[in-house]
Amino acid sequence: MERSPGPDALLQPRPPSPLQEVRDDRFERHGVRLLLKRDDLVHPELPGNKWRKLAPNLRAARDAGHDGLVTFGGAYSNHLRATAAAGRLLGMRTVGIVRGDELAGRPLNDSLARCAADGMRLHFVSRSEYRRKAEPQELARLVDAAGAGGAYVVPEGGSNAPALHGCAELGRELRGAADVVAVACGTGGTLAGLAAGLDPGQRALGVPVLAGGFLAAEIRSLQAAAFGGPAGSWTLAEDFHHGGYARVPDALEAFAAEFGSRHGLPVERIYVAKLLWALTELTAAGAFPRGTTLAAVVTGRP
Ligand SMILES: Cc1ncc(COP(=O)(O)O)c(C=O)c1O
Repeated sequence: MERSPGPDALLQPRPPSPLQEVRDDRFERHGVRLLLKRDDLVHPELPGNKWRKLAPNLRAARDAGHDGLVTFGGAYSNHLRATAAAGRLLGMRTVGIVRGDELAGRPLNDSLARCAADGMRLHFVSRSEYRRKAEPQELARLVDAAGAGGAYVVPEGGSNAPALHGCAELGRELRGAADVVAVACGTGGTLAGLAAGLDPGQRALGVPVLAGGFLAAEIRSLQAAAFGGPAGSWTLAEDFHHGGYARVPDALEAFAAEFGSRHGLPVERIYVAKLLWALTELTAAGAFPRGTTLAAVVTGRP
């Protein structure tokens, strides 16, 4: 019998993603070279870290014989959208457990409508129920109640051990190319994997987009689960969240629009804009010695 094509063939990955140099006087006047790692171009429907994190999970799901995927997210989650798209491309059923039971029975927003159009079944739960997924027994109960028993469970944000290994590949693609590799952080999974893949002399720099200062501990525990302990060199620049998740003040909006038109880059606002702003500010403040090559990972598209 002919073996069905694996996720790699079906999802048509295209790594390594391009690395582009940008000419920008805000960096050049400080002797800093800026490269953009265009990971947003790695796959048309699963851009950037979505591909990096989901591909190893899809392989694990297939190898363990699962016919479906179940995952979690808020009403605007890019991760839910990417999982729904992956399910469509692979012919796997998908279930999305969505935070906020007040959304049940209401018209879907654009993001959830895309999930549904890709065949994802949406199951809305209250915020307190959603939080309890951190406890293994509650997680199993929630998955069963959503009608997703037997499906492969991808955690919220997709940051588990296989995902970190996928993000380590992104780091390996950047070996020898930059002194500092910078990335925006939500759960910290992308940074945790990226740092592990870099050369020993390179440093990963994370820019959290959420306020709170809890991320360093989270990254350490993600690395312990995936690699058995600390991996690679990384630091965080924690002052660039602009008030919190999905907050895009006018100044950030103007910065992102100008950067986008100056360099022909579609700048995703929730993560990538905060990363590029942080690098511009840190460079102006002399945080990088002259002669530094910086690579900014473009993890997504608007
Ligand atoms: C475009 C983009 N960049 C960066 C991130 C942050 O990734 P992580 O949660 O691994 O820190 C996300 C979150 O999923 C994202 O959608």
